[in-house]
Amino acid sequence: MKSKAAIFWEAGKRLDIQEVDVEKPHTGEVLVKLVAAGICHSDYHVMTGHLFAPFPSILGHEGSGIVAEVGPGVTAVKPGDHIIVMWRLSCGICEYCSNGRPALCPAGTQIRSTGQLLDGTTRFKYKGQEIKHFAGASTFSEYTVIPEGSALKIPQDFPLEIAVLLGCGVITGVGAAINCAKVKPGSTSVVFGAGGIGLNIIQGSAIAGAAKIIAVDINAKKLDYAKTFGATHFVDASKKNAVEAVRALTDGRGVDYAFEAIGSPETVRQAFDCLAKRGMCVAVGVVPLTKEVAVPIMALVFEEKTLTGSLYGSARIRQDTMMLMEMYKAGKLKLDELLTRKYPFAQINEAYDNLIKGEVARSIVTF
Ligand code: APR
Ligand code: ZN
Ligand code: ZN
Repeated sequence: MKSKAAIFWEAGKRLDIQEVDVEKPHTGEVLVKLVAAGICHSDYHVMTGHLFAPFPSILGHEGSGIVAEVGPGVTAVKPGDHIIVMWRLSCGICEYCSNGRPALCPAGTQIRSTGQLLDGTTRFKYKGQEIKHFAGASTFSEYTVIPEGSALKIPQDFPLEIAVLLGCGVITGVGAAINCAKVKPGSTSVVFGAGGIGLNIIQGSAIAGAAKIIAVDINAKKLDYAKTFGATHFVDASKKNAVEAVRALTDGRGVDYAFEAIGSPETVRQAFDCLAKRGMCVAVGVVPLTKEVAVPIMALVFEEKTLTGSLYGSARIRQDTMMLMEMYKAGKLKLDELLTRKYPFAQINEAYDNLIKGEVARSIVTF
């Protein structure tokens, strides 16, 4: 079948909307008609070459839509089901899946690194040329083919344009606070970067009961958004030394939890330097993966500070997504406030321009 899709030809080039051919789903695969796709900074890291992904390909890892067709052997979903695309495939039986950490499953690594589906082939072609998949998701297309294990069925009455947000930004941010850092009531957090991910770390810290939540950003508008999501203190890092400002806001003690949601080694180190003794720093932003961050051994041993990272909100993705939907319905999770702009799919490059200009909390394209 034919589908309009945004092709990523190579790093440094804008996405190119073309009509591609989409092959029918093979065994264990699902054809999805996308309703919405999320504009996340991670795809932009790929477009700029900071993060490698096989190309030419169709990017996009946040998506919601309706199952159009299923391949042989598929039992989890049927045509007409509403789904969220999960961008990290998991097998369900390996060590990591069995221990509630499906994002660390080797199946996800395989599909992400090859740009192919599990049988080693692809379903997209442009004028006969093979176009690769991205993370088994490829949501920047009217139609995509994903593994059955990447489809998360959701209730039909949950709005798909809100559900898409749960596919990456919300679970990654809220999960980093709740699952990875395990933020305690009454504690103090700092969040570097109040974008789509950082706002959800702020929201997760607030839900967990942190008493003081410090938002750090270089864009005043983002600090305004941060307030909506529960931040109590604000540092404009374009005007102040962020580490000194955070120390001043905590009477010199430092914070219990520091999160980095920007994607640079410098800000990971700044976040680490904000910690109190026994504090935990969680890297959530994706820096160029070959980069390193150095921290003093003194801080690790004599101050028992921890530096770790969190992938996909360290979540049990299926259960946690359902939990987040319940929280939204109960008025305990802010999603409407997060979605500050929607674009028609044809304006996807403009959507990325505006993300980089810092004009949105989170935005989506609709099909
Ligand atoms: N100090 C403080 N804030 C900064 C700095 C800095 N030096 N540089 C950028 N920022 C802020 C931006 O102003 C923006 O508000 O970081 C925020 C990044 O937000 P988004 O562009 O919305 O990106 P998001 O989708 O949230 O992703 C953030 O998480 O998953 C990763 O790959 C993703 O590395 C990216 C990070
Ligand atoms: Zn597994
Ligand atoms: Zn994302």
